[in-house]
Amino acid sequence: MNNLDISLLKQQLAEVIPPISTALSLPPACYSDVEILELEKKYIFQANWIGLGRADQWQNPGDYSGLEIVGIPIIVLRDSQSKLRAFANSCRHRGAQLLEGKGNCQVIRCPFHRWTYALDGRLLTAPKIKNSEQFEYNKYGLIEVSIAERYGLVFLNFDDKANDIDQYLDGFGPLHAPWSFDDLVSYKRHEFEVNCNWKAFLDVFNEYYHLPYVHPDSINNIYLTPEPSEEVSGDFASQFGPTEGTGALLESTQQYSLPKIESLDERNANGARYTWLFPNMTFAAGTESVWIYEAYPLTPQRSHIVLTLCFPTSTTQLSDFEHSARYYFERLLAAIEEDIEALENQQLGLNSPLAQQGRFNPELEPNVASFAIWYARQFENLQLAN
Ligand code: FES
Ligand SMILES: [Fe+2]
Repeated sequence: MNNLDISLLKQQLAEVIPPISTALSLPPACYSDVEILELEKKYIFQANWIGLGRADQWQNPGDYSGLEIVGIPIIVLRDSQSKLRAFANSCRHRGAQLLEGKGNCQVIRCPFHRWTYALDGRLLTAPKIKNSEQFEYNKYGLIEVSIAERYGLVFLNFDDKANDIDQYLDGFGPLHAPWSFDDLVSYKRHEFEVNCNWKAFLDVFNEYYHLPYVHPDSINNIYLTPEPSEEVSGDFASQFGPTEGTGALLESTQQYSLPKIESLDERNANGARYTWLFPNMTFAAGTESVWIYEAYPLTPQRSHIVLTLCFPTSTTQLSDFEHSARYYFERLLAAIEEDIEALENQQLGLNSPLAQQGRFNPELEPNVASFAIWYARQFENLQLAN
């Protein structure tokens, strides 16, 4: 850390405070500066619950993924008792990476010297190391990382002194109960990279302000004026808005609409709820489906994005499901393509040393403002002498 002016950053973040009607937006450097990304890794990603998408990625015992989250290699797997676990993807012998990609395994076997671990992380065998050499197997299990499943979603926390997951999600359950999250099935998981900051991607998904200008012919006419955002105590923001037709299909393909989620009441059956689980996961809970985005920083100006589109189990069993679901996926890609053009352009402006903090539209971008305020708070312990 040499070029970043921490005292200026702290001063600027101190202006990102409630109420959202007067809060300044985040300093543009937070969207472009490589040293701030390093601070985000420590104060945002390694200090909070982060979203890893849907739990049905790991359906059966032994299902695993080798992930890299803010540069940290992690294994997520379902153990033989069906409990989801996360481990450092680093062998306890001499550190080799243990698993890559996705798959199913009975044990975790290091490719280097074949130390072998159970799915609960215990070291089972280490070739040619004998007990008589006072080697204590129970001291060399995999390093476990906190992971939790709630509402069919998965959350990981690198900080073992982290807040309780249920405190993090306080108020989430009742607000989202109408969509029966536990009953959803992931139809598609689609990964891509985009040339913008990870926060900018999540920002645009969460605001209504851009709809008439960025999506004038694709989805804008479906979305009516949104309701004020929810007052919540958990680390998330949520705003509901009525729709005319379904927000999950293009204006031109509304006829392919699948049945509405059965558990929705009158109000929720005619709108969409946009929720942002801080810092990196967001979704829209619509009338027939829920679509989720995870965003992970690669560099300050490039992000890895994961989209998951889900439907209720009963919908996926309909004979015409596949045919209609394709139109849902097509709508998401079409809107994203329009967003990406706007985001890449925004990034160019944010990169300027002359860019300054702005203001929020409190009715049309309250989720973006709530996130900015939460983000600024995470840096309260940032020391001047970094
Ligand atoms: S590094 Fe894994 S067994 Fe040697
Ligand atoms: Fe958009």
